[in-house]
Order: sequence, then C-alpha cells, then structure tokens
Amino acid sequence: MRNLILAAASVAALVLGGPAEAQSPIVIKFSHVVAADTPKGKAAEKFKELAEKYTNGKVKVEVYPNSTLYKDKEELEALQLGAVQMLAPSNSKFGPIGIKEFEVFDLPYILPDLKTLRKVTDGPLGARLLTLLDKKGMTGLAYWDNGFKEMSANKKLIAPADYKGLKFRIQSSKVLEAQFRTLGAIPQVMAFSDVYQALQTGVVDGQENTWSNMYTQKMHEVQKYATITNHGYIGYVVVVNKKFWDGLPGDIREECTKAMKEATEFGNSQSAKENEEALEEIKKSGKTEIITLTPEQNEAMRQALMPVYKEVANRVGQPLIDEFMKETGRSAMH
Ligand code: LMR
Repeated sequence: MRNLILAAASVAALVLGGPAEAQSPIVIKFSHVVAADTPKGKAAEKFKELAEKYTNGKVKVEVYPNSTLYKDKEELEALQLGAVQMLAPSNSKFGPIGIKEFEVFDLPYILPDLKTLRKVTDGPLGARLLTLLDKKGMTGLAYWDNGFKEMSANKKLIAPADYKGLKFRIQSSKVLEAQFRTLGAIPQVMAFSDVYQALQTGVVDGQENTWSNMYTQKMHEVQKYATITNHGYIGYVVVVNKKFWDGLPGDIREECTKAMKEATEFGNSQSAKENEEALEEIKKSGKTEIITLTPEQNEAMRQALMPVYKEVANRVGQPLIDEFMKETGRSAMH
C-alpha cells in the first residue's frame, strides 16, 4: 500500500507542478471515509463549492467520499506523503500517527452538548491542539462536528452488564479501547469501511456511532438493537498537508481559509439535524429497535464508565483532561 501511496504522491507532484503554473488549477484532493450524505460529506462539498468560487476556479477541489481513495489509516499516511491534500479524520484516529491528545474528545460523557464542545474547539485549547499537527507535516484548519454516539448490537444493551463478553468494533483510539474493556466487552479496531460486513458476518457483535453514520452505512440493517446513550462524541479535525498549504500563493490560501471558515459554520449548523433525520429514517425502516434508557439506567452507564478517566490519564495527560473539563464546566461531575 505504501508503494501505491508513494506512486500517487509523485504523480500528484507532477500534475500539480507547483502553484506557480497559473494555467492549470491547483487541485486539492479531499479524501474521506463516510457517505456524501453525512455531516462531513456535506461540509466537504460546501468547502469545494466555496473554495472554487472564491478563487475563481484557480483551485479545484476533488472530494472522494466513502473510502473510495483511502481507508482510515492509509488516508493519514497519504496526506503526510502528499498523495492527497486534505482530510477530516475523526479525533479518534490520530493516535496511530503519534498524536494521542485528540483522544481526550473520546472520554465517555465528557461533553454535555455541542454548545459546550464549541467552547473547547473555538477557544485556546482547541487552537493549541491543532498546533500539535505541525510536527507531523499537517496543518489543522478546523473542527467539524458529526455528533453524539449511540450503541448498537444484536442484543439489547441496557445495563453495563449487557456489554460483557460482546465484541465491539472501535476506531483506533486507546480511550475507546479502555471504554469497552471497562464494560467487560472485547474491543476490536477496524476501518470504518469494513464495519458493515463485520456486523453482517458476526465478526463483531456491535459498534458505536452516530445515527448518520449508522444509517448511511446501512448498519441498522444488520443490528437488531440500538440504544440512545449519547455517551461519546464524533468530531473531525480538518487537516491539510503542511508543505502544500504553506506553498500556496498567499491570496489563494486566504480565499481557501475563508471557504473553510464558512463551510465549517455551515456544516456545524446542520449536523444535529442530520443525525436526527437519520434516526427517524432508521425508525421508519423498522429494522432496528431503538431503546431509550431511563435516567437511572443512563446514570448506571455513566457510573460504570467513569473509571476510564483514571485509566487513560497517563496516555492522554491528566493536565489536558483537567483543562478540557474546566473549559466544559464539568469538573464537579467526575
Ligand atoms: C468511524 O470510523 O466510525 C467514524 O470516525 C467515521 C467518520 O469519519 O465519521
């Protein structure tokens, strides 16, 4: 795979020929793993529309959804090598390239709502986290929302004990691994594009995701139950190859920055609605029974997952966790 990525990178370099060649447009390949009809898919399309408009066609954005170009782990390697220019991986996917700090977003119940999230991402902490990407050859441009995660399986998931012994697909985050181990479940890291088949064939019993991801990947067709837990959050860091970005003519970079800002506002204002609509579609399909927890059952899940904070403190960093919780005003809760 690495050879393939390298080959693609050198072709990209040839085709691009550097921003100085004004005749042919500067191409930004934007690769992602979800369907076009999702919060991330739509924000990527919005960025394309605005970047092309603001630069009068001097920039051409090619969006490749649904892992058509690269899967989770490969896409980050491809970006570092310059085979693609832009991605929006979830916070949970930066660990394997050596940035563990974004896993703080994976802590169970760390965010009560999206408004609180914004305090972190739009504030000094969010800005500081983005600078960590520089040393990996990337520039962090924005935070995009998906939304809150729910649990699904072929078994009813109500009490913490229901998770015991079940195999769950997870993203490549050690915090998510700790989360499922704390429940006595068996976590298995897997690329997003492989989840449907793994659920269908029983390689794993369940998974956690947002309604929009579940619906657009048809996971609800191969999961009998889904529980409204809102126990965690999926959001994205939009990253661009640093060398490419720094090499853009100043005016083009400025227009692209403006397009990104507006695409971010657009995407983040739509994401909650898109997840609600996906939930309605799942309900309508009649294929998955949706389980609502009582406040007591919810609290039992929350309590069961609190040990995760201690367990991952060394990895993610206790000062970072403390700072995050201070920003969200949640320090008293844990
Ligand atoms: C997942 O792998 O479950 C998600 O991160 C996919 C995505 O990009 O929303």
